[in-house]
Amino acid sequence: MSKEVKPESVSLNPLGTAAAPESELLCIYGTGDLGRSLGLRLLQSGYRVVYGSRRPHSCGPLPQGAQVMSHAAASQSAGLVFICIHREHYEFLEALAPQLKGKVLVDVSNNLKKNLYPEANAEYLQRLVPGAHVVKGFNTLSAWALQNGPTDANRQVYLCGNSAEAKQAVAEAATKLGFSVLDRGSLSAARELEDFPLQLFPEWRLPLRVAVGLTAFFFFYVLLRDVVYTYVYEGKDISFRIMVSLANKVFPIVSLIMLALCYLPGVIAAVLQLYRGNQIQAFP
Ligand SMILES: NC(=O)c1ccc[n+]([C@@H]2O[C@H](COP(=O)([O-])OP(=O)(O)OC[C@H]3O[C@@H](n4cnc5c(N)ncnc54)[C@H](OP(=O)(O)O)[C@@H]3O)[C@@H](O)[C@H]2O)c1
Repeated sequence: MSKEVKPESVSLNPLGTAAAPESELLCIYGTGDLGRSLGLRLLQSGYRVVYGSRRPHSCGPLPQGAQVMSHAAASQSAGLVFICIHREHYEFLEALAPQLKGKVLVDVSNNLKKNLYPEANAEYLQRLVPGAHVVKGFNTLSAWALQNGPTDANRQVYLCGNSAEAKQAVAEAATKLGFSVLDRGSLSAARELEDFPLQLFPEWRLPLRVAVGLTAFFFFYVLLRDVVYTYVYEGKDISFRIMVSLANKVFPIVSLIMLALCYLPGVIAAVLQLYRGNQIQAFP
């Protein structure tokens, strides 16, 4: 790794070795976990990357091919700046407002709990740098997911922002990185996006209702068939079995149906893909 030290700029590798000189230059503020993973992914996707850091000469190891400079110098020639910094450190960006005017700022930040601040992080950033176009996005991806590339379970990037052009620019980068983009509207949706990573099993209600409904249905079915029928037609009282043998029938039946409901759609989809001969065509 060659290191060229200039007063304000450190090149971790000659830029030409990582991406063609004509490829677009993107800026990342922050050389932490997310900044590093994102930078690596951008470089692998053909972008040039420049980091803005408080310590351009002593920050940790960065992806080969990236440059690192002071914040002001880094964003000078990039139109799009990823802010990979925790919200509590955003204040310094206010002083950079003149340099960041007209640029697209991507707010990737998350919070440790809901309603920690009166306004969403992205709205706060927009207030600090009113001349920039803030887009909220990428916050639902972990550094690990960014570094390893999209997987089936982690392929979506949610975006929101007030400028359609700015969102388009971020969406293009996300698409080039292999993610699919979901536009959630204006910046007022930022809080909702920031709450996504804090949700634990957000869609638990329907599966729970299905499981309880199936359990009740099969319990009464087995009760009628095994206990009531035997009592009425054979005169035998086997109600003592309700708690054990009925439960032993009901729970496996419900478990198997729940498993089938989870996996059967995937199996049907796979069969459909084999039939169509490709895996790219979208499902209805
Ligand atoms: N890690 C993840 O998986 C993940 C996933 C989704 C979203 N995020 C979000 O991404 C952002 C960065 O997360 P991270 O995990 O990369 O954090 P991190 O590893 O702690 O890195 C944050 C970076 O911010 C810069 N920084 C720290 N204090 C600063 C200050 N006082 N003023 C200016 N810059 C400062 C530092 O870069 P320099 O030393 O170069 O200035 C530091 O490396 C956070 O908002 C987080 O919520 C992270």
